[in-house]
Amino acid sequence: MRGYQRLPLVKGFGKTQRIDDWWNQPLIMAAALGFALLYTLIRVAVLDGSIHYEDHRVTSPIFSPDVLHIFHVTNHPGWMNSAMLILWIPFGFRGTCYYMRKVYHRSFFQNPSACMVSKPDINHTLGYSGERGIFIFNNLHRYMLYLAIIILSMKYYDVVHTMQFSGSWGLSVGTFVLAIESFLLTMYVISCHAFRHLVGGSLKQWRGGASSIAGRIFRFSSRHNVHHNLWFWTSLAMVFLGDLFVMAVAEGLISDPRFILG
Ligand code: FES
Repeated sequence: MRGYQRLPLVKGFGKTQRIDDWWNQPLIMAAALGFALLYTLIRVAVLDGSIHYEDHRVTSPIFSPDVLHIFHVTNHPGWMNSAMLILWIPFGFRGTCYYMRKVYHRSFFQNPSACMVSKPDINHTLGYSGERGIFIFNNLHRYMLYLAIIILSMKYYDVVHTMQFSGSWGLSVGTFVLAIESFLLTMYVISCHAFRHLVGGSLKQWRGGASSIAGRIFRFSSRHNVHHNLWFWTSLAMVFLGDLFVMAVAEGLISDPRFILG
């Protein structure tokens, strides 16, 4: 075949001529994702107390938006919580994310293990068939984006809610915790490949009127798309840091310092 050149790849799982610690990144990513899944499962299914404090003024990011509370749903089974109803959206959004696909293909499936690193023999047999079989669900990413934008707007509602202190307005550490989480999530959404397409990538040109605005948003999104991995991990980490903060305040282990504006 013209232009085809066989790479000098050593055969055998994990074999490589690379001299760096290539396995560091997939190992850390696998550990981080494994921790995130386990933590969420335990928190949602077993330890689902202390998910808010001061009568829902501040709600844990894992359980936010607390739809059961927001929509005054009271006649639900005792074991049910809002996370059980809404987590499929962030899970679906992150699970079909283009960057996430790279992470799980490398960390969990070893297909490929890394650049210029030999993968397990079975993966040579199975091959890589893109968005086929179970992976056909990855095509739902653009729809998950629409739902994620709805969830994101409800998170900003939660941030505003943290500023309401029984008749007065103010700020507390909890406000900043949820605001940082919402900001990181916003950057994750803005830097999304499907978002780029949505805001201007589908247009043939950006000249004049609304299309020039679309072009500007597209270029802004593109600038941050380069760092999509950063926004993926920081926004994910902040979900758990925020949850730990809310749990610690709700349990009385720490306080939530505040500044009341009047
Ligand atoms: Fe990662 Fe859309 S590509 S969230």
